[in-house]
Amino acid sequence: MADTYDYDVLVIGAGPGGYVAAIRAAQLGLKTACAEGRETLGGTCLNVGCIPSKAMLHASEYFDAAANGAMEEMGIEVKPKLNLDKMHAQRLDAVGGLTKGIEFLFKKNKVDWKKGYASFVDAHTVKVGDETVTAREVVIATGSSVTPLPGVEVDNAKGVVVDSTGALELKSVPKKMVVVGGGVIGLELGSVWRRLGAEVTVVEFLDQLLPGMDMDIRKEAAKIFKKQGMELMLGTKVTDCSVKGKTATLTVGSAAGGATTEIKADCVLVAIGRRPNTQGLGLENIGLSVNQRGQIEVDHEFRTSVDGVRAIGDVVPGPMLAHKAEDEGIAVAEWIAGQTGIVNHDVIPGVVYTWPEIAGVGLTEDAAKERGAIKVGKFPMMANSRAKTNHEPDGFVKVIADAESDRVLGVWCIASVAGTMIAQAAQAMEFGATSEDIAYTCHAHPTHSEAIKEAAMAVTGKPIHM
Ligand code: FAD
Ligand code: NAI
Repeated sequence: MADTYDYDVLVIGAGPGGYVAAIRAAQLGLKTACAEGRETLGGTCLNVGCIPSKAMLHASEYFDAAANGAMEEMGIEVKPKLNLDKMHAQRLDAVGGLTKGIEFLFKKNKVDWKKGYASFVDAHTVKVGDETVTAREVVIATGSSVTPLPGVEVDNAKGVVVDSTGALELKSVPKKMVVVGGGVIGLELGSVWRRLGAEVTVVEFLDQLLPGMDMDIRKEAAKIFKKQGMELMLGTKVTDCSVKGKTATLTVGSAAGGATTEIKADCVLVAIGRRPNTQGLGLENIGLSVNQRGQIEVDHEFRTSVDGVRAIGDVVPGPMLAHKAEDEGIAVAEWIAGQTGIVNHDVIPGVVYTWPEIAGVGLTEDAAKERGAIKVGKFPMMANSRAKTNHEPDGFVKVIADAESDRVLGVWCIASVAGTMIAQAAQAMEFGATSEDIAYTCHAHPTHSEAIKEAAMAVTGKPIHM
């Protein structure tokens, strides 16, 4: 098939969208190359995102449990001593192992890695460094980068004003950290440094944390983070930031305007969102434009407006999540190979890996109400035997179902293992489950997942353990 072109498929970007697309395309018998400008494969997720952040979250969770009483509660008396260099080393070890793993998978599946940043010459011709590569189909999977905050200059090397990449690598625990943005990154990385001893203040423009999540979850999350010692400045904006030596001074005020105050910190983390990577791709050479949010619009086969050019992952609309990018990677390769690639964008779980974890899938209660009458069942983790036994009383599960059909429209949870629990909700929704289906599914005891069953039972007002 690749007679007139060097390749059947050229994927640009080797993040979870791109590397998965390349591997699946090769598995389907297509001659495939993948261009990646970074030194290592795996994109944001493996290099500076999901994996290193989870490495620091996991390690700091142990430290926190030992330092702040959770272990003592269970009869284990220890005085932890932080070896931050070693904690960073295990983070780098995880990243190294996993990125090398993708390199191995490329070799195994005969995907050619074209090293360098790619730019379109025409729709089927791409320059990667000094090389020119042609392909029948090109998939743009260039991902996203940190959104800058005007007037606040990030300098990761200096370590005073940092973005998520800098915040993963701080050489010492800040005394005072200000996180600008109470979203996923701010809360995850803010949690890491709070657990290790920093005093953390979160400045969030909106009047609640975690936009996009269910309102009950957002309110409960705020209570929990406050209880853990984070200071939350909601409805607040940063109007200025200056750095002198190792101290940053932020000017903050109400989002609505009015008086301002100053906060000093030895570390400021800017985490106000991410934006798609399209600069330098030569989109103008193929007549491909981006929407108002800088994203590339695609149809359900991931085709852009330019013949032979498709796009997936963070660079297209939808949640900026690794598993969404991966699923799109598989689907786009299947479409290119003449098969049908399906991604159900209505059922994409989201997880915040704090303590406890915060997870959701499907519609929020407000969004579901807009569509019609609903029933809601809630169950507190305090009443779940496993969570109670494990000294993990915080959180709840909420199941939202259509009032008439009982079909589950959304599930939200805050629980120590909410990220694991949400998988069953996603699977149930994928199969079109009703709340009754979940309520009558036998769940192992004692597990946190029983709280999902009980919340489903609560939809009809009949939970047992409450
Ligand atoms: P990316 O992973 O961004 O990969 C794109 C790749 O393309 C990059 O390697 C880039 O170098 C390369 N590239 C860009 N332009 C070119 C070019 N012109 N030529 C060649 N190569 C190019 N998501 C989750 O689901 N779970 C999490 O726990 C999670 N944690 C995160 C933590 C942090 C701190 C951050 C920043 C993000 C996190 N995310 C998480 C989001 C997740 O990383 C992204 O949604 C995911 O990586 C997107 O995958 P992608 O393939 O679209 O793009
Ligand atoms: P985010 O969109 O989750 O949160 C950004 C927050 O900053 C929002 O609450 C927003 O209201 C606030 N904000 C925007 N401008 C502001 C300003 N000027 N001042 C104060 N607050 C402001 O974005 P975040 O946290 O940067 O993460 C980017 C993306 O990365 C996420 O949307 C998510 O898709 C992905 N991610 C996913 C993770 C996961 O799945 N566990 C972990 C980390 C990132």
